Amino acid sequence: MPISSTVPPFAVISGGQVQEALAGREKQIVELVEATYRLHGAGDSVNPPSYFLRFPDRPTARIIALPASIGGDVRVDGLKWISSFPQNVDAGIPRASAVLILNDHDTGYPFACLESSIISATRTAASAALAADRLSHHLGRRPARIGFLGTGLIARYIHTFLAATGWTFDQTGVHDLCPRSAAGFRSHLEQSGAPGDITVHTSAEDLIRSSDLVVFATIAAEPHVTRTAWFDHHPLVLHVSLRDLAPEIILESANIVDDIDHCMKANTSPHLAEQLTGNRDFLTGTLDDVIAGRTALPDDRTVVFSPFGLGVLDLAVGKYVYDEVARNDQLHVIDDFFHELRRHG
Ligand SMILES: NC(=O)c1ccc[n+]([C@@H]2O[C@H](COP(=O)([O-])OP(=O)(O)OC[C@H]3O[C@@H](n4cnc5c(N)ncnc54)[C@H](O)[C@@H]3O)[C@@H](O)[C@H]2O)c1
Repeated sequence: MPISSTVPPFAVISGGQVQEALAGREKQIVELVEATYRLHGAGDSVNPPSYFLRFPDRPTARIIALPASIGGDVRVDGLKWISSFPQNVDAGIPRASAVLILNDHDTGYPFACLESSIISATRTAASAALAADRLSHHLGRRPARIGFLGTGLIARYIHTFLAATGWTFDQTGVHDLCPRSAAGFRSHLEQSGAPGDITVHTSAEDLIRSSDLVVFATIAAEPHVTRTAWFDHHPLVLHVSLRDLAPEIILESANIVDDIDHCMKANTSPHLAEQLTGNRDFLTGTLDDVIAGRTALPDDRTVVFSPFGLGVLDLAVGKYVYDEVARNDQLHVIDDFFHELRRHG
C-alpha cells in the first residue's frame, strides 16, 4: 500500500461549524466532560503541564499551549493553543482566541485544525455546570441565588450551560469592574428570558453576600477578594478565573480542583495557599473524587471549585465536533496539505 494512503486528510473547521455542531447539545457536552474527567481520574490520559508563553513588551498578554492525549473511545492526541490579550476587549473583540490541533492516534499526523475559542468556552462552561450539580448534591437542594463576578464571554457560556441543564434562579446578581460589561451581561440575561430578578451590584461584597452560588470569571491576576466574613453563609463558589480569592479564604473552605498538580501552579489562589502553608492539606479532592464518592463534602463550610482547565477536555469536545462535521459530510479538507510523503523522493 502506498504510504500516502495511511496519511489522514487534513481538515480546517471554522468557528461557524463548531458553533453549529455544539448548538443545543449542552447536556451531551456536560456528560462528555464528566466522562473525560472520569477517564483522566482513571489514568487513561496524558496531560502535561500547560506552557505559558509571556512577553516582556506585552506584560498582560499570554499564549498558553495545552498538549494532551486521551484514551477511551475518543483516542486522540493534540494541542490547544490559546491567546489571552485583555486589551482586545477595549477594541471591541474578545480577549481570547484559539486553535485546536487534533493528531491521529496511529500515525501522529495532524488531521484537523479547529477554531477553538468556542470549544474552550464550551468545555469550561460544561465543567462549571457539572461541578455546580455535583458539588451541591450533598445540600439536598440547588442554590437559587446566583452571582456572577466578572461578566465576559465565559460568564455568558456558564449561564447558558446552567440554564440548559435545568438550573433556574430566583435571583441573579451581576458585578463587574466595567459597568458596560455588567450592563451588557444584564441585557443578555433579559433577552435570554432568564426567570427571576436581576440585580447589578456595585460591590463584590454585596454580590457575594447575596449569592448561594458565586461564579468568578474575571481576569484578575491576583487576589482582590480577601475578607473571609463575606463567605459566612457558605456559598458554593465556582472559581473559574482561579486568582480572585486570597489564600485565607481558600484555607477556610473545602477545596475541589480538576487536577491537583495542575492547579498548584501559575499563582492560582490554591497555589498561593500552598506557598503560604507549605502543604496541600487544605485540598479536599478532585471533582472526579466527589463524583466517584471517594470524597464527601461538608455542609457547614464554603465549597470552592478551582478548575485549572485540562487539555483533555478540549480534545474530547474538539473530537466530538470533528465527528459531527464529518458525519454531516461538511469537512473542508485541504488537499495536498501533507505533500512530502516519500522518504527518498
Ligand atoms: N479555568 C478554566 O478552565 C478557564 C477556561 C477559560 C477561561 N478561564 C478564565 O475565565 C476568565 C474570564 O474569561 P472571559 O473570556 O470571560 O474574559 P473577558 O475579558 O471577556 O471578561 C472578564 C470580565 O471580568 C471583569 N473583571 C476583571 N477584573 C475584575 C474584578 N476584579 N472584579 C470584577 N470584574 C472584573 C472585566 O471587566 C471583564 O468584563 C479569564 O480569567 C480566563 O482565564 C478559565
